[in-house]
Amino acid sequence: MRKQIAAANWKMNLTLAQAEMLVKDVLASQLDLKENQEAVFGIPFPYLVQMQNIIAGRPHIYTAAQNCSHKVSGAYTGEVSVEMLKSIGVPYVIIGHSERREYFKETNIELSEKVEMCFDYGLKPIFCCGEALEIREAGTQNNYVENQLEESLFHLSEERLTGFVIAYEPIWAIGTGKTATSEQAQEMHAHIRGILASHYSNQLAESVSILYGGSVKAANAKEIFGQPDVDGGLVGGASLKATEFVTIINSLK
Ligand code: PGA
Repeated sequence: MRKQIAAANWKMNLTLAQAEMLVKDVLASQLDLKENQEAVFGIPFPYLVQMQNIIAGRPHIYTAAQNCSHKVSGAYTGEVSVEMLKSIGVPYVIIGHSERREYFKETNIELSEKVEMCFDYGLKPIFCCGEALEIREAGTQNNYVENQLEESLFHLSEERLTGFVIAYEPIWAIGTGKTATSEQAQEMHAHIRGILASHYSNQLAESVSILYGGSVKAANAKEIFGQPDVDGGLVGGASLKATEFVTIINSLK
């Protein structure tokens, strides 16, 4: 059974004290995480170690970095390597969020290097894809997302991609309060699974967790996560409030 994941993406928010309070509040709540379910916190680099310490020993709860370098090490001022993340025990890395693609000009090719780097060091990428509003309005979103996957992932072996995590995040739904309908989410998730099946195999496609992101909140999580090809969510704004995020976690199917 593939994993169902509720992943928080804090982005560039929260002070250390606020972050500690948020994680402690979530952990103190009634979390109904089943065997195949996980809650993941996407944490800014400076607090990763502290948050790791707070969640240590809690089953099914993990940290994620929000980015990593595509270089191994060396003279890259300000960058954070996958090896550094590994050395502090961070298991997940969010790769290719649309904000990184847009504001930091990350390309599909650079992202393919980041994904590969994660695999080389045994970290698990959460690979983000998704189209902008113009593309959705032109009706070419299926080809657009296929191209993102093809250029960043399809050089990888089936073995590496088994159990992989993809987050489909339509850019027009991020932070806008304008969620994709559950039908739109299901349609794209089924399309992504179909692409994986045709490039690799049904078995691979069935093992990949595909999360939906874009204005997920307590009030809509259950309906979106209830779609057959939606395996949870990547949550921005609503993950900054403990009660909201707890309801989202408990909405996993
Ligand atoms: P949002 O962000 O939930 O605030 O729309 C989602 C994301 O960017 O991952």
